[in-house]
Amino acid sequence: MEAALALIGEDLKNVELQFKKDLQSNVPLIRKVAEYVVSSGGKRIRPALLLLAANLCGYRGERHVPLASVVEFIHTATLLHDDVVDNANLRRGIASANTLWGNEASVLVGDFLFSKSFSLMVADGDLRVLGVLSNATTLIAEGEVLQLVSTSDLDMTEERYVEVVRCKTAILLSAACHAGAIIGGAAPDQEAALRDFGMDLGIAFQLMDDTLDYVANEDEFGKSIGHDLEEGKITLPLIHTLQRCTPSERNLIGDIVAKDILAAEDFHAVFDLVHTYGGIDYAMGKAREYIEQAKTHLHAFAASPGKTALQSLADYVVTRAK
Ligand code: IPE
Ligand code: IPE
Ligand code: MG
Ligand code: MG
Ligand code: MG
Repeated sequence: MEAALALIGEDLKNVELQFKKDLQSNVPLIRKVAEYVVSSGGKRIRPALLLLAANLCGYRGERHVPLASVVEFIHTATLLHDDVVDNANLRRGIASANTLWGNEASVLVGDFLFSKSFSLMVADGDLRVLGVLSNATTLIAEGEVLQLVSTSDLDMTEERYVEVVRCKTAILLSAACHAGAIIGGAAPDQEAALRDFGMDLGIAFQLMDDTLDYVANEDEFGKSIGHDLEEGKITLPLIHTLQRCTPSERNLIGDIVAKDILAAEDFHAVFDLVHTYGGIDYAMGKAREYIEQAKTHLHAFAASPGKTALQSLADYVVTRAK
């Protein structure tokens, strides 16, 4: 992972600078909230994907840094909104913006970041890139709503779950790769290969996030463990368990999922069932399958440092702890 990022280290530093510059607003609360979220870190996976995809396609211009910054802007906006929707108090190991400034400020600053992203894309002036990223933004909103209406639905299937994951998460990683390929002037088959690489990688990324919600170390993960369960989110480890457990175990899970606040024994009861029925191993196995599939799309490219870096980034996704 470090080696992968070394290739684009200078660009990533410039993305940070660009990002801070684009955040400027005459409204102090916007600056305060946005700067708080931005300086709290984050793995910067989406900008890294855009930069590496552009690098792989031989891009040598100046547009990659501002566009990578835009992708992180869009991501930041979705996080601000997501933490409101998910009632999350912790993000990147510190209090979430909604905890400090309230839901109203988070929603409005998220809107600012979304609108600002579109101005920045218009300034870049490439209709194809604008098309890819605006499509991604629309799908993210649809994915979040699809997930919302599936809250506490014990009949959630793996297919519907993966569809939600494609929309709410994977599409942005895919769009980041796709945009990098477009500015790099990739041939149509290579452009499609990078788009598909990002999609499979993105699905694996969310499968891991949902698994880490059950098994991560909270300090490392930077988010509360068991929070998906508490919020009634039926993710793959639980879907797998629900399809295998007994009717009385299913009723027990249903009662716990429906509760607003869970006691320690509720978490333990469900965690035990998920482990007993192999939900963790199953979801991690699926994530690994998606990563293997992601890597096959890179066959469209000859060996190069950019290709190696994307392969390492893919491997990192299934070993990450945060
Ligand atoms: C969090 O994304 C939201 C998901 C799609 C799971 P990241 O895990 O990329 O968040 P940061 O930016 O690194 O904090
Ligand atoms: C993230 O899903 C999806 C988006 C940000 C659109 P999660 O709700 O699982 O992400 P975290 O766990 O809060 O980062
Ligand atoms: Mg969330
Ligand atoms: Mg969410
Ligand atoms: Mg999560």
